[in-house]
Amino acid sequence: MPGSSVSIVEVDKYFGDFHVLKNINLEIKENEFFSLLGPSGCGKTTLLRIIAGLEDVDDGDVLLDDKSIIHLPPNKRPVNTIFQNYALFPHLTVYENIAFPLRLKKLSENEIKEKVDWLLSLTRLEEHAKKKPNQLSGGQKQRVSLARALANEPKVLLLDEPVSALDAKLRQELLIELDNLHDKVGITFIYVTHDQSEALSVSDHVAVMNNGVVVQYGTPYEIYESPADTFVATFIGESNLMKGTVKDLISENYVLVEFPTLGEIVCFKDKPVNIGDDILITLRPEKIRISHLKPQLSSDSYTNVVHGVVDETIYMGYQTKYFVRTDDGYILKVYKQHASYLLDEKIIQWKDEVYMYWNPDDSFIVEVERVD
Ligand SMILES: Nc1ncnc2c1ncn2[C@@H]1O[C@H](COP(=O)(O)OP(=O)(O)OP(=O)(O)O)[C@@H](O)[C@H]1O
Ligand SMILES: [Mg+2]
Repeated sequence: MPGSSVSIVEVDKYFGDFHVLKNINLEIKENEFFSLLGPSGCGKTTLLRIIAGLEDVDDGDVLLDDKSIIHLPPNKRPVNTIFQNYALFPHLTVYENIAFPLRLKKLSENEIKEKVDWLLSLTRLEEHAKKKPNQLSGGQKQRVSLARALANEPKVLLLDEPVSALDAKLRQELLIELDNLHDKVGITFIYVTHDQSEALSVSDHVAVMNNGVVVQYGTPYEIYESPADTFVATFIGESNLMKGTVKDLISENYVLVEFPTLGEIVCFKDKPVNIGDDILITLRPEKIRISHLKPQLSSDSYTNVVHGVVDETIYMGYQTKYFVRTDDGYILKVYKQHASYLLDEKIIQWKDEVYMYWNPDDSFIVEVERVD
């Protein structure tokens, strides 16, 4: 079942006066696992419904394999949608739910059986074939709706928060299953979620949306490691956001930044800046090392070192979160993994004096406020 590429071209959508989608442009490659990620109400479901043909656009186009589908009704588009609430027929068995679209197509009984059996094994539902939906768990119901959606042999599968009704552990399991299924069927998946860890863990590419605008497009790595702006930096993962002023341009790649609350810090220069610019820096808490001991620094590379006192500790099992008050009163978040616990120094505790240090590459500019 080869998949299709999907292009969203300058799509605008209004609900009355409300501009819900603003000039959306996206290229989704054939057979990729693509995620639309954004907070509640940002327009994800609306965009998915536009691709499915359930909602009109006010401007723009939707292309499948470079051909416009905007004038095709939903049932003429080679696209199927999985919803959060399963939408199964309660009076039909699992087998008959999956067979339903095939019966509509008037396939022979033999063809239907062959196909449904294949879909049952693909979604590991063989032993549940005779059950009705109300005899299934949430995860099993969602697998039935997956199997039914795949029965139509769509070229694109649209998944609108398909695991959000399940508990955390089951969400993880179904997500891994979805990923495996995607590899097996080899069609294009467009997956909608407001959960950043879901989007980062399975996607080839992610588009981050906010207020009807795509604010960043990239691989999960790019989105996490180089957030495009303050919104992405705070929405995806956690970060220390710090406002400072450019004091010196050290080299092509590094700048010296003066922070009222941290002193002078070397930062990675991933955007053009001038001396005197006010800038916003992001630094992920897990990129910072923390120790009772002052680090021994080599002179041939930069390392930022800040001294402080532990203000709060939160033990999380696999890691500890430290909130450390710097000498100038700034609270820096530092997350320490419990990897080499046996080799570690004495456990860092509340009120301990500590040094925090990090590679300048991990503190980088997210926003620039020009002075001129
Ligand atoms: N039919 C409609 N008429 C009027 N407003 C609508 C309609 N459908 C959605 N909206 C509004 O458009 C905005 C985007 O809705 P949408 O369902 O696309 O958001 P979402 O990103 O999917 O959110 P969630 O994560 O909560 O599902 C919301 O403010 C919503 O209230
Ligand atoms: Mg939605």
